[in-house]
Amino acid sequence: MDENKRPDTMERITTKALADAFIEKEVKKVRQQVGDKKVLLALSGGVDSSVVAALLIKAIGKQLVSVHVNHGLMRKGESEQVIEVFEKQLGANLVYVDATDRFLGLLAGVSEPERKRKIIGGEFIKVFDEEARKLSGIEFLAQGTIYPDILESDGVKAHHNVGGLPEDMQFELVEPIKLLYKDEVRVVGEALGLPHSMVYRQPFPGPGLGVRCLGAITRDRLEALREADAILREEFDGAGLNKTVWQYFIAVPDVKSVGVKDGKRYEGWPAIIRAVNTTDAMSATIEEIPYVLLHKITARITAEVNGINRVLYDLTPKPVGTIEWE
Ligand code: XMP
Repeated sequence: MDENKRPDTMERITTKALADAFIEKEVKKVRQQVGDKKVLLALSGGVDSSVVAALLIKAIGKQLVSVHVNHGLMRKGESEQVIEVFEKQLGANLVYVDATDRFLGLLAGVSEPERKRKIIGGEFIKVFDEEARKLSGIEFLAQGTIYPDILESDGVKAHHNVGGLPEDMQFELVEPIKLLYKDEVRVVGEALGLPHSMVYRQPFPGPGLGVRCLGAITRDRLEALREADAILREEFDGAGLNKTVWQYFIAVPDVKSVGVKDGKRYEGWPAIIRAVNTTDAMSATIEEIPYVLLHKITARITAEVNGINRVLYDLTPKPVGTIEWE
């Protein structure tokens, strides 16, 4: 039997009861596979790695060592949520690495999008590898591979790509959710007690805010982006748009325009709102956002975020525009 093929008889997990049954079965399987050995996991805080972490904590507790690398390009509050949920609530064996200075140092002055992606991906593996080498007795590597990853590629996650670890750091893989579709992963996550906001988090690219702070990243513009993005998310969520819009975020280009505040002219960056609907991210349509809400978001961002003096709404579907700006 091909263990990377979902059996035709496998029922779609849509209810808590089905999720509980799945969890029970996987817990047994993981315990059998791992025995009393240690398992390493790169925990980004995304849906898939979070669900794997919660499942493995249930199965093997502190034998799971989760490493959360904060590359400094996370959205507001994300790393804090990882620590709160996994370390404080679930008692995880969590290694938290604040690598912000390393990443931002390497990215300084780099404006070419693919080069930025390569730096972020490469440095991620380096930091993770360094942390793995500090630990002893690790024999397994857990991954949040899901079924679409297997169907669409060679089964290796593109960005938090631990498959890129050096030759001498190869481990046996533990991939408990690799036959699940995304909607099933979410049902399982909720059954494991993860917060709704974590389990229903919208997709977030591996390079994070790095591809939304357009051009060469600077700390001040990155901070402005993070704050503006947090306001956008708060307002969209408050208006219930998190239920109807697939992905929404802010991008901040490396361009300034003149504005006026307190009777004085000053220069600031524009915050560009992107809010799209799609089923497969291959094409995307633009969501109709109520003008009242757009006005409110504009007022809040320009009043509350240092350095932003305009707010724009990107009306371009994909194609022609990609979802991200870089
Ligand atoms: P585009 O911009 O190509 O995005 O229309 C399609 C979807 O993919 C996400 N995306 C990425 N995800 N690493 C990722 O893990 C990346 O480098 C990356 N670039 C784009 C994007 O957020 C959208 O959901």
